[in-house]
Amino acid sequence: MTMHVVSTIDVVRQAVREARAKKLTVGLVPTMGALHAGHVSLIEAARHETGYVVVSIFVNPTQFGPQEDLERYPRPLENDLENCGKHGVDLVFVPEPATMYPEGYRTYVEVEELQDVLEGAARPGHFRGVATVVLKLFNIVQPDVAYFGQKDAQQARIIRQLVDDLNVPVRLRVCPIVREPDGLAMSSRNQHLDPTQREHAPALFRGLEEVRKRVEKGERDARVLREVLAARIAATPGAVLDYAAVVDANTLKPISKLTGEVLVALAVKFGGTRLIDNLILTV
Ligand code: PAF
Repeated sequence: MTMHVVSTIDVVRQAVREARAKKLTVGLVPTMGALHAGHVSLIEAARHETGYVVVSIFVNPTQFGPQEDLERYPRPLENDLENCGKHGVDLVFVPEPATMYPEGYRTYVEVEELQDVLEGAARPGHFRGVATVVLKLFNIVQPDVAYFGQKDAQQARIIRQLVDDLNVPVRLRVCPIVREPDGLAMSSRNQHLDPTQREHAPALFRGLEEVRKRVEKGERDARVLREVLAARIAATPGAVLDYAAVVDANTLKPISKLTGEVLVALAVKFGGTRLIDNLILTV
């Protein structure tokens, strides 16, 4: 099958209509490009579970703050298309910013409360941009199933809420974090790390593993676990802790005693590069 690369909404809709006429189910993997093994795992899940796989590649300006890395966000389109081709993608949607946000654009989606904590507190407006573009992509492609990574745990939670609240007819699949052999979670931002930072970056994963072990041994005090993470990052050269959080996985509110589904999440800066990682525990 040939892979189509398209940039306009009409052509996406036409291609999806044709796929549906062939009774194929449609899977969507929304991305900002710079595809790595984490994205490939989503594409493979979509390939496995749906008949027609659409990948969108769009570095969404509305989810970047004014001081953030929109300009330096990697855009290796040739490699990305090659990667999509290798993994059996049917359609790649690569819109221009003006296609997604034409002159006079005015409508944004906000997922109250969930958007304001953790990443949202550190990056005001970020999830408004994410929720808006994801709903637009859902409306453009109208997939049966959409695939997201657990690495962006809060994003996955917010999209779940959006889909439920706005009755969007799509099934969500959240796929496990894919890691480098030393535990570093795959991220397009890892390529900005210099060799020393790269060497120390698995500290996030090691901190989370330490938390997991403590919980397995019976620790239920969230403050103690936050301190475990903070101490691990404090002991890591070049690392600055942005936050270490132990929250209810559903409400994203801080908890004091672990019970039910718990999200342990942290964000750490290495110079100008901000990394995130997390762990879901069922206690
Ligand atoms: O996770 C991402 O890469 C982005 O936030 C997404 C979901 C593609 C929206 O721009």
